Amino acid sequence: MKLMIDDANIERIKEIYEFYPVDGVTTNPSILAKSKRSPYDVLKEIREFIGDEAELHVQTVSGDAHGIAEEAHKIVKELGKNTYVKIPAVPEGFKAMQELKKEGIKLTATAVYTPMQAFLAAKSGASYAAPYINRIDNMGYNGIQAAKKIHDIFRNNGLNTEVLAASFKNSQQVLELCEYGIGASTAAPDVIEGLVKNQAITSAIDDFVKDFEGLTGIGKNMT
Ligand code: E4P
Repeated sequence: MKLMIDDANIERIKEIYEFYPVDGVTTNPSILAKSKRSPYDVLKEIREFIGDEAELHVQTVSGDAHGIAEEAHKIVKELGKNTYVKIPAVPEGFKAMQELKKEGIKLTATAVYTPMQAFLAAKSGASYAAPYINRIDNMGYNGIQAAKKIHDIFRNNGLNTEVLAASFKNSQQVLELCEYGIGASTAAPDVIEGLVKNQAITSAIDDFVKDFEGLTGIGKNMT
């Protein structure tokens, strides 16, 4: 499972990249709005930091296929070929995806709340479909089950689209989808850090250091 950072805060992105084996960064218009800066300034800074090979996912906001396609061209021109254009999985989005796929532009279907949206997006040429786990839960359904179902639909239909699960409220949800073998998850920095935040781990490591220092002296190590 690929793991991506769902944030546009460059300082937090740098902190996560320093320690964790992440595969890229995803953004959406609301995430970009939090920066209160020009979207392309923020996105170019992220691209420069993560490098040309990492995945960067950037969403369009136009309501019609023509506008979506124009945004997609500009996004890829400004941010490079490993930029996935996130397009809402609605009829105008499917139309745009089918055109953009022919041009070789990489696509992520977003705002996915139902397996049928994901299926249609996959057939329209999306490389990823992003079900919103937490938001689906908040509607009274089961986001994790929806993501698993979408994964199964892709595999059972020979579609090479992957699930890019998004909108997590906790690290356990990421782990459950990892166990199921979905293609990718994107999560906020706190959720990624939560994957290894565990008092038992910290205290086991503290005990090792204390025992070693008892043997060799404070501040000593294996050098
Ligand atoms: C990803 O595609 C979504 O834009 C994002 O993860 C939504 O997350 P939220 O429900 O926490 O806003």
